Amino acid sequence: MVALNDYSGLREDDEALVLEQAHHLWDDDLPLVSNLANASALLKAYLTQTNWVGFYLWEPAREELVLGPFQGLVACTRIPRGRGVCGTAVETRQSQLVPDVHLFPGHIACDSASASEVVVPLLQGQTVLGVLDIDSPVKGRFDPSDLRFLEAFGTLVAGKWAENRGALSTPPGVTRAGAR
Ligand code: SME
Repeated sequence: MVALNDYSGLREDDEALVLEQAHHLWDDDLPLVSNLANASALLKAYLTQTNWVGFYLWEPAREELVLGPFQGLVACTRIPRGRGVCGTAVETRQSQLVPDVHLFPGHIACDSASASEVVVPLLQGQTVLGVLDIDSPVKGRFDPSDLRFLEAFGTLVAGKWAENRGALSTPPGVTRAGAR
């Protein structure tokens, strides 16, 4: 199991280790939701001073993000394109580094403790798969170096997400009509 005491305190070494752990934790034969759940738990265990770490999944049919696996308090479930920090990351396909969420126009406050935030869009080419969202109760918690690491984490997850073979929801042989 991955534990905080796996980390040395040397940023470059620890970030490389987290990326390696994320790579090894991912199991292509599991449902995507299982892999994203462990990816969010891994990142939450590594990142100090964070109160929410998780994923939103892009739903093309509705043109909005829907809540995915996360660590933290209950969160808003649907975010339209262009709304809040997450919707802006989708719209622009650019990471958002927000030192003070109260100064971000349209910021959506799920946890009132959140003070700063990073959102990384997860892309397959130019297609949005979802976003990685990290909140901190500390203003200015994230610097450009954190952003580079989180973008590397996002690139790893997006690459694996695009390849994930596991069932997305209903196991083979079980149909809605047949369900009791
Ligand atoms: N703050 C985000 C909403 C999601 S929560 O932080 C979990 C936003 O403005 O899009």
